[in-house]
Amino acid sequence: MKIKSVKSIRNLRGKTVLLRVDFNVPFKKGKITEDYKIRMSLPTIEYLLKNGARVIVMSHLGSPKGIIKPELSLSPIAKSLQKILTARAYKKKIKFAPGVIGVKVEELVNNLKNGELLLLENLRFEIGEEKNDNSFAKKLASLGDVYVNDAFAVSHRDQASVSAIKKFLPSYAGLLLEDEVKSLAKVVKPKQPLVAIMGGAKVDTKAPLIEKMHKKAAFVLIGGALANNFFKALGYEVGTSLIDEASLVFAKKFIHRGKIEAKIILPIDVVVKSGNKVSVKPLALLNKKDCIVDIGPKTVELFAPIIKQAATIIWNGPMGCFEEKPSSFGTMAVGRLIAARSKGVAWGVVGGGETVEAIQKTKMAEYIDWISTAGGAMLSYLGGEKMPGLTKIVSK
Ligand code: 3PG
Repeated sequence: MKIKSVKSIRNLRGKTVLLRVDFNVPFKKGKITEDYKIRMSLPTIEYLLKNGARVIVMSHLGSPKGIIKPELSLSPIAKSLQKILTARAYKKKIKFAPGVIGVKVEELVNNLKNGELLLLENLRFEIGEEKNDNSFAKKLASLGDVYVNDAFAVSHRDQASVSAIKKFLPSYAGLLLEDEVKSLAKVVKPKQPLVAIMGGAKVDTKAPLIEKMHKKAAFVLIGGALANNFFKALGYEVGTSLIDEASLVFAKKFIHRGKIEAKIILPIDVVVKSGNKVSVKPLALLNKKDCIVDIGPKTVELFAPIIKQAATIIWNGPMGCFEEKPSSFGTMAVGRLIAARSKGVAWGVVGGGETVEAIQKTKMAEYIDWISTAGGAMLSYLGGEKMPGLTKIVSK
């Protein structure tokens, strides 16, 4: 694999670098609740600043589709980034542009000194961003001398700041993007046995990966709401549990003459809520009032030896409603099993917003080989889908 690394840019001093990052972080009541993506962008930002580049940082937040929504402004992120950089001995003030392109932004860019950083406003306030519009990309590109993509998490999108912009500037990969691609490549070409663990709800973004894993992996362990569709397709009562039509159709593909394919391992017991009552049940005893909220202890016993024999593990999607205590056991247990096996014995990769939150809750995140900043992009990359953000900077 060849990667055009940011480290191969010559004479960074005085160069204006347009750096695409993913600062699409979760907020609650105006406060950032998880800054993992911001922290993971620091190596590239600091590398550029230390080498005297003039750094223009760009990101999206949410999906405002060309409409200026104050609640999706990047201004709180500018404050958070300043705090983080200052705590790491960066002495200058970072600047924040109230727009993405236009005269005011150009003025701020012109006044930017070597080793200084300017954060642009939310890229998706401009309609051209999500449309991958050439003329918007060209205007954006005119602000800098070189382009660096460090936003692996958005690299599955055909959008101006990750795709069209590369037509107009010499383009490079940031250090985080490099790490993401190298770490995930070990799942694309895995040491066997490869075990894939898939959970969460809707199948739409996960389907290509499950299809791929089903061919490539020794086992695919299914949990979370995703499993409910397999139960239903096999003829079990699922009560009021979460089901969706597309996932149900998808599940049926793996069932032949009433039996699930051998590689796909489904839960054998589940935690259910019925009114205020929480109980553990084998599948055969589920009734119309039950709502499945987690995998059961016998399923954890079934999954454990499979995870323990893996040489490569990929996990996306929680096993249940892990945010609430009575239904957190399955997700926490799976997370701990992966952590216990990773860093040494197996190559363990975890990705997806909720899954990352879950692994952090186990307090064992440090034992995982790679925690991806990406959700959808990771699924697309591992599923072999097009990655417009990687063209010209990553090749096989
Ligand atoms: C993510 O959070 O997965 C990325 O920032 C991509 O966001 P998007 O799904 O809105 O393109």
